[in-house]
Formats: sequence, C-alpha cells, structure tokens
Amino acid sequence: MKIKKYKFQKHGDERGMLVALEEFKEIPFHVKRIYYIYDTLPGVRRGFHAHKKLKQILICVKGSCKLHLDDGHETKEVVLNKQYEGILLENNIWREMYDFSPDAVLMVLASEMYDEKDYIRDYNDFLKFVASEEKNV
Ligand code: TYD
Repeated sequence: MKIKKYKFQKHGDERGMLVALEEFKEIPFHVKRIYYIYDTLPGVRRGFHAHKKLKQILICVKGSCKLHLDDGHETKEVVLNKQYEGILLENNIWREMYDFSPDAVLMVLASEMYDEKDYIRDYNDFLKFVASEEKNV
C-alpha cells in the first residue's frame, strides 16, 4: 500500500513543543493547499473517497482519529494520535476517517488545489480505476 508514516522532528524546550514542516524536506511535494477538519460530531465517519492524482499528508495536530485505508487489494487501520506524526497517502487510496476524539483537529497538506474531478467517490468506480491503472503499467 502506498502509504508512509512520518515522525517529524520535535523542537522542544522548557517552553513547550514545535514542529516545522517544509516542502521537499519533511513534505515530499509542493504544498498547494492546507485544510483541517475539527468539531467532528461523535460517531461520524467521513472521507469515503480516493484521488486520481492528489497526494496528501494527514496530521492529527490535536486529539486523535483513525483512518481506514484501502488500495483495492488490502486494507489497513491507522491511528493518528501524535502531533509529530504524519501519514502520506498517495493517489488511489480509498480513505475513511472515524473515531474522532471531541477535540480532534485533522490537518491535511495537499499537493494540488481542490478539484472535484480528482475525486473518486464511488467504491466500485475506485476498484475499476485501480484495475485500469494496473493494466496500463
Ligand atoms: P468533503 O469532501 O465532503 O470532506 P471529506 O471527504 O474529507 O469528508 O468536503 C466537505 C466540503 O468542503 C465540501 O463541500 C467540499 C469542501 N472542500 C473545499 O471547498 N475545499 C477543500 O479543499 C476540501 C477538502 C473540501
């Protein structure tokens, strides 16, 4: 599965902690967009899509949440609960986010601007897309 977990460097001292992220250093792509999800209501599961091209790094900068990831062949559940950890999701990964703690803030760094055409929102279309990409390799 095309996912990679990062442990970013923590700059800590007696005042507290700081994490710095620079493109092409900690982040392996040009960051064109940042968005964050917060105040998620109890029991909510969201996402339910994959991307044709977009790469993203997800960091739960406060609280915790879980990710259900699926590359069309295998699935993985990942817990995000550390401010200094990120997960890189390349294209063609179906993702669902769930079990948000009430204080969770999930920040996403994205390689492209928002483009609805890059989304695959139907799971069967996702499986077809993965199969067609693999045929083209
Ligand atoms: P949505 O795609 O439903 O979130 P998710 O799939 O992560 O659960 O996005 C919610 C709304 O926010 C939807 O109306 C589209 C809008 N949106 C933007 O305008 N820009 C963005 O970068 C993102 C991620 C969403």
